Amino acid sequence: MTAQQTLVATVDVGIHFRLARNRVLKAVDGVSLDVMSGETFGIIGESGLGKTTLGRALVCLEKPSAGQVLHRGSDSYKLSRRQLQQHRREYHVVLQDPMRRWTHA
Ligand SMILES: Nc1ncnc2c1ncn2[C@@H]1O[C@H](COP(=O)(O)OP(=O)(O)OP(=O)(O)O)[C@@H](O)[C@H]1O
Ligand SMILES: [Mg+2]
Repeated sequence: MTAQQTLVATVDVGIHFRLARNRVLKAVDGVSLDVMSGETFGIIGESGLGKTTLGRALVCLEKPSAGQVLHRGSDSYKLSRRQLQQHRREYHVVLQDPMRRWTHA
C-alpha cells in the first residue's frame, strides 16, 4: 500500500477583514488542517463561523492575512499568474445551489 499524500493543507491560517472605524473581523483565525489523498473532508459549524471564507482561501479566491495554504506542499499564493492558471485546472468548486452566487455559498 502506498503512503497517503497530503493534497491540501492550511498552516495557522487567519483571514481578517478590516471594517469601518478601524475594527477588524477575524472571520478565520489559526486554522491548521490536512486533507489527504482519497479523503473526504468536511467543515461544519454555525452560520458566520467562517466556512465559506476558509473555502475561498483554499481555492485561491481569498488571500489569507496570516498563515499558508498548501497544495501538495506548495504555497498556492506564491505561484505566478501563469502557474496559478495551470494549477487551477486541478481543482473545482461545486456549488450546493447553482442559482446562488459563490460569495454567498
Ligand atoms: N468580504 C468580507 N468583508 C467583511 N466581512 C466578511 C467578508 N466575508 C465574510 N465576512 C464575515 O466573515 C464571517 C464569516 O463568514 P462566512 O460567510 O465565511 O461564514 P459561513 O460559516 O460560511 O456562514 P454560513 O453558514 O451562513 O454560510 C461573517 O461574520 C461574515 O459576515
Ligand atoms: Mg457559507
